[in-house]
Amino acid sequence: MDIIEEAKNYIQELFKNNYGGHDADHTMHVYHNALMIARKEQCDMEIVCLAALLHDADDHKLFHTVNNANARRFLENNGVDPEKTEKIIEAVNSVSFSQNRGKKPSTIEGKIVQDADRLDAIGAIGIARTFAYGGEKGRSLEETLKHFDEKLLLLKDEMNTETAKRLAEVRHEFMLSFLEEYNKETR
Ligand code: NI
Repeated sequence: MDIIEEAKNYIQELFKNNYGGHDADHTMHVYHNALMIARKEQCDMEIVCLAALLHDADDHKLFHTVNNANARRFLENNGVDPEKTEKIIEAVNSVSFSQNRGKKPSTIEGKIVQDADRLDAIGAIGIARTFAYGGEKGRSLEETLKHFDEKLLLLKDEMNTETAKRLAEVRHEFMLSFLEEYNKETR
């Protein structure tokens, strides 16, 4: 089995008890978004794929690992050399929204995976994940709605690649019409 298939199996196992929108499905969306973006860019496809699949393997909201221990263990067990491992880890670490405010990833692979993750935070899937996460944290709908202004409506302007900018535009418009309808129904 090739390493990409191994990574897909690994994340299924790793996220098997997660449902709040940070789960194996989210990782697979990010992987597919990353493939779609990467086709239009000059990049190392293997780094993009592995960074996308491992991007939440050490997410601090889910795991108490340090120094990307889960991702590193997977890469080491699958014979990835140290130099490539560092490039994958660098791309993984450029994804987090909270830890990278205003910073652009320095590599194209990092830019692609960051865009891929942010696309899954907006549009219809973004709305679904936001309310699932809010519910998991015991927040009311009104409280959860604040997350749109604080983060989701800002993401469109933070995309790195042309492909992601185009996709983000459509998802952004969808969120605006959702919010408009929600406000109409609840005032
Ligand atoms: Ni993610």
